[in-house]
Amino acid sequence: MPITPHVLPHRDAHIVILTGAGISKESGLDTFRDADGIWSKVRWQDVATPEAFAKDPEKVHAFYNMRRARNRSLDLQPNAAHLALARLEAEWPGQVLIVTQNVDTLHERAGTKNLLHMHGLHAQARCNHCRHVVEWSGDMSVHTVCEGCTQPGGMRPNVVWFGEMPMYLDEISAALTDCDLFISIGTSGNVYPAAGFVQVALKNGSHTSEINLEPSAGASLFAEAHYGPATAAVPAYVDALLKSV
Ligand code: APR
Repeated sequence: MPITPHVLPHRDAHIVILTGAGISKESGLDTFRDADGIWSKVRWQDVATPEAFAKDPEKVHAFYNMRRARNRSLDLQPNAAHLALARLEAEWPGQVLIVTQNVDTLHERAGTKNLLHMHGLHAQARCNHCRHVVEWSGDMSVHTVCEGCTQPGGMRPNVVWFGEMPMYLDEISAALTDCDLFISIGTSGNVYPAAGFVQVALKNGSHTSEINLEPSAGASLFAEAHYGPATAAVPAYVDALLKSV
């Protein structure tokens, strides 16, 4: 699938890349809003808000325990799209930052270094009492004791729920203000503030490119678009960028 970017950035261009669940789909992880996505099986209002956790913490824990158990059962590997972005970061003369909405660790396992998880990480837990954050891979319940403050009942997944403030917004805003090329990959463009990043980039004169299986909700905002599975479209786009320097 030869891809010729409409605009080839200058060699020390700063590139900001936003990724969503679509980039991990071909590694075996479900997206959220596809027909068979996570939110087709459970209401996010029941398992992914602070109110849901206050109302029925065991239901929320059961949802995340099930997702951790499923991830453990899969031999999750970074795919060609994750690897291509890691190669871009390693070989591009300018700065490359990946801002991911994903809570998996496939970007870092592909070798990406300059990475911000704006929605947190599935593989971490945080205490509501003392804010202590720990690596977490097993089950969690209201009886789980925080190793920081030794209190039970406060441990929760260290992910950002609907209605909560995403992480690293100051760093992301600074990067978008300074970027020459903004690329959005594998996201439906339904959830803010991530869905609004393209407008910040445009306001600052950045070139904008969408790479997705199908047009996202914000497709009309992008100067350029390439549609197809991420494992084909992303390596082809990265190859073309790297050939231009
Ligand atoms: N290659 C590229 N894109 C794909 C592929 C693929 N193989 N498969 C699916 N997609 C696209 C879909 O077409 C869709 O546009 O990935 C996008 C996934 O969209 P969502 O399921 O809405 O996931 P995302 O945009 O990451 O959701 C954002 O919403 O529920 C919250 O916190 C959650 O971080 C998540 C946020």
